[in-house]
Amino acid sequence: MKIKQIVLGLSFIATTAFAQEVPVYLNDKKPIEERVEDALKRMTTKEKVQIIHAQSKFSSAGVPRLGIPELWTTDGPHGIRPEVLWDEWDQAGWTNDSCMAFPALTCLAATWSEDMSLLYGKSIGEEARYREKDILLGPGVNIYRSPLNGRNFEYMGEDPFLAARMVVPYIKGVQQNGVATCVKHYALNNHETNRHTTNVILDDRALYEIYLPAFKAAVCEGKTWSIMGSYNLYKNEHACHNQYLLNDILKGEWKFDGAVVSDWGGTHDTRQAITNGLDLEFGSWTDGLARGASNAYDYYYLAMPYLKLIESGEFSTKELDDKVRRVLRLGFRTAMNKEKPMGSLNSPEHNLAGRKIAEEGIVLLQNKGGVLPIDLDRTQKIAVIGENAIKMMTVGGGSSSLKVRHETSPLDGIREKVGTKAEVVYARGYVGDPSGDYNGVVTGQDLNDNRTFDELLAEAVEVAKSADYVIFVGGLNKSAHQDCEDSDRHELGLPYNQDRVISELAKANKNLIVVNISGNAVAMPWAGEVPAIVQGWYLGSEAGNALAAILVGEANPSGKLPFTFPAKLDDLGAHKLGEFPGNKEEMAKSTSRNDTINATYKESIFVGYRWTDKNKIKPLFPFGHGLSYTTFEYGKPNADKKAMSIDETVTFSVTIQNTGDREGQEIVQLYISDKKSFLPRPVKELKGFRKIKLAPGEKKEVSFTIDKEALSFYDDTKGEWVTEPGKFEAVIAASATDIRGTVPFELK
Ligand code: BGC
Repeated sequence: MKIKQIVLGLSFIATTAFAQEVPVYLNDKKPIEERVEDALKRMTTKEKVQIIHAQSKFSSAGVPRLGIPELWTTDGPHGIRPEVLWDEWDQAGWTNDSCMAFPALTCLAATWSEDMSLLYGKSIGEEARYREKDILLGPGVNIYRSPLNGRNFEYMGEDPFLAARMVVPYIKGVQQNGVATCVKHYALNNHETNRHTTNVILDDRALYEIYLPAFKAAVCEGKTWSIMGSYNLYKNEHACHNQYLLNDILKGEWKFDGAVVSDWGGTHDTRQAITNGLDLEFGSWTDGLARGASNAYDYYYLAMPYLKLIESGEFSTKELDDKVRRVLRLGFRTAMNKEKPMGSLNSPEHNLAGRKIAEEGIVLLQNKGGVLPIDLDRTQKIAVIGENAIKMMTVGGGSSSLKVRHETSPLDGIREKVGTKAEVVYARGYVGDPSGDYNGVVTGQDLNDNRTFDELLAEAVEVAKSADYVIFVGGLNKSAHQDCEDSDRHELGLPYNQDRVISELAKANKNLIVVNISGNAVAMPWAGEVPAIVQGWYLGSEAGNALAAILVGEANPSGKLPFTFPAKLDDLGAHKLGEFPGNKEEMAKSTSRNDTINATYKESIFVGYRWTDKNKIKPLFPFGHGLSYTTFEYGKPNADKKAMSIDETVTFSVTIQNTGDREGQEIVQLYISDKKSFLPRPVKELKGFRKIKLAPGEKKEVSFTIDKEALSFYDDTKGEWVTEPGKFEAVIAASATDIRGTVPFELK
C-alpha cells in the first residue's frame, strides 16, 4: 500500500514537473490561439518563411527544432490520390495506397441529401487519416456556368443554394477526422481553357449572388480550415494573391481564420503574395522545376525572395506573422491534433457509403412506358452495349485521378446482379478512347479494338435485335476535352458518333435504356426515340453495383439534376451572349501563352435555370428534375401567415403522398419568386429542399421556414444585401419546371 502511494506520489511530482516544462504550444490542453502565439514567438524569421511554402510536391515543412511537424496534402475530392515521388509527378510505387473511389461531386450534389454529404465527408476523411494526410484538396464548389467546363464533374452544380447546403456537411465530416478540407477553387474558376490567364469580369451581383455563396457557406458555416486560391484572375490580379477576393471578402467580410493555399503553380508574384492574402504556396514551377530539383522550393515566391525583401527592409514581418499564425493554426487543428482518430481505408463501411451515395445520386431522366426497372423474372436476354460499360473511370480526369482497390464496371455490376436469371451479352458499339493511364497509374485494361465503326455498329445492332432489353452505356470519359482538368469540351454533343449508335439501337429494339456517364450535360438529339434515359455520373468504385441496383429496381432512383440539361448550347446565357471561354477577339489575337484573356460573364446572375426561366426556354431536362419508380402527389401548399415583417419568419407546408406501389424518396423544392424589385431578379430561386422517404400510400408533411435572407438580393449600387418589402411567391416544385403549387405572401 505504502509503496503504491510513494510511486503514485513520485509520478504525480514527475507529471507536474513535466507539465510545467511542456511549452504552451505543445500543450494540447491550452487553447489553440495561445499555442499559436507561443509557437510564433519561438520561431526565427527563417523558420517562419520555411513553413509557408512547399518542400515537396504535396507537403510543406514543419519546424523540426520545435517539434512542429510537416503538413501533408492530398487530392481530393473523390478519394485519396496515390503517392507520388517527393519531387516528381511519377508514382512512388507504393503497394498500400489504393483507395476507395467515392462518386464524383456532381453525383453527390444530385443526391440533394445533406446526410449523404456528411457520410461522404466522414468516409473520405477517414481514408485521408489512414493515409496520414492533414489537408484534403477539395471539395470544389465552382458554379456550373457552362456544360463545356472540363471540371464540372468535381463541382456541385449550377445553383448557389444547393452547392452551399451540400458543401457544409462534407466539410464537417472530413474535419471531424482532424483533416482539413481545402475548398477549391476560390473563385471564378468556371472553365479550364486558359485557366492561368483568364481574367474574369463580372458584376458584383453575379459575384455575390451566384459565385460566392457556396464558398461563404464553406467558410462561415462549414468552418473549413483551408481554402485554395484558383488559377484565374479577377480584376487583373491572380486569385491566389488577390486583394478583393482574399483580403476584402474572405478574410475581411467572412472573417476566415484558416490558411489560403495556392493552387499548384497559381502563385506569380512575391510582393502580391505577401500583401494579398496568400498563406501557403504550393506547386510553383511544376513545369519541370526550372531552377533545379535540389533547391527549387527555396526559390518559391514565398521562400528566399520573401526573406530577401524582409532583410532589405522593404517588408516587416507583419504579413509574415499573419501567414504563420494561419499555417500554425492549421497544423494544430490537424497534424498536431492528438484527439484525431486513426482512420481506415477501403473498409466495408466506406464501400457501403460509396454505393449508397451513388444509388442516391443516379438520376432517372426519362422512363416512357415504364421500361425501367427491368423485370428479371420476365427477361431472358439483356444486351449491354457501349465503351463506358467496361471502361474504368477512376483513372484520368486530372488531379482527381485515383488508384483504386476495386472498381466494378457497369457490365460486371449488371452481370453480377442478373446472375443466372438471364443471359447478358456485350457488344462494344463504338471505340472512344481506349487509353487508361494518368501519371503512371494504369488501368491495365486493353480496350483497343481495330474494327471499323460500321463493323462495331452492325454487331451491336445484331445483338440488340434478339435481346429483351438493350442497355447502352456511353457518354463522356476522363480524357482531354471530355470531363477532364486543364481542357474544356469542344461541343455539347456526345463524342465518337454515339448519337448514331443510339439511334440505330432504338430502331433495333424498343426497350432501349441509355445510361449516360458524364459529369456534364450532353445533347440528346435521340431523346424522343428512346424510352429510358439514366444519368449515371462517375460513380467511383461501386459504379457497376449501384447502376445495376437502379436498373433492376433493387434501389429506387431518387437523384435529381444539380444543373440544367439545355437542348443546345445557345440555350444558356454564357453561350448565347458569346463570351465562353473568353473574349473571342483577344483569343484570336493572342500570341503568347501568358497573354491575359478577358472573360466577361455577360449573363450576370442568369445562370442555368435562372436563364432558361427568364427567356422562357424549354430545357431538355430542367434543374431539379429526376424521376422515381413510384409516384408522388403534392397537396396544396400553405403558409403560416400571409405577410411577414423583416425580422419574422414564414413557414410553408405541403403534404406529399407516395401514390405508387413501392417505397421511394422525393426531393421537394422550394423556390422564392420576387414579384417586383428595383433591380432585375430571376423568375425564381431555390431557397429550400427536403428529401423524404415514403412507403407506398404514406403521406408526410414537409415544411420550410425562411427568413429575410431568402428574399434578399445584392444591391450593387450600395454594395450590400437588401430586402425589399413587397409581394413574393413561394413555389413548391418537383423540378425547376414542374411546379406543384404556389403560395403568395408579402414582406411588410
Ligand atoms: C488542381 C488542383 C489540385 C492541385 C494538386 C491543380 O492542378 O487545379 O485542384 O488540387 O493541382 O494536384
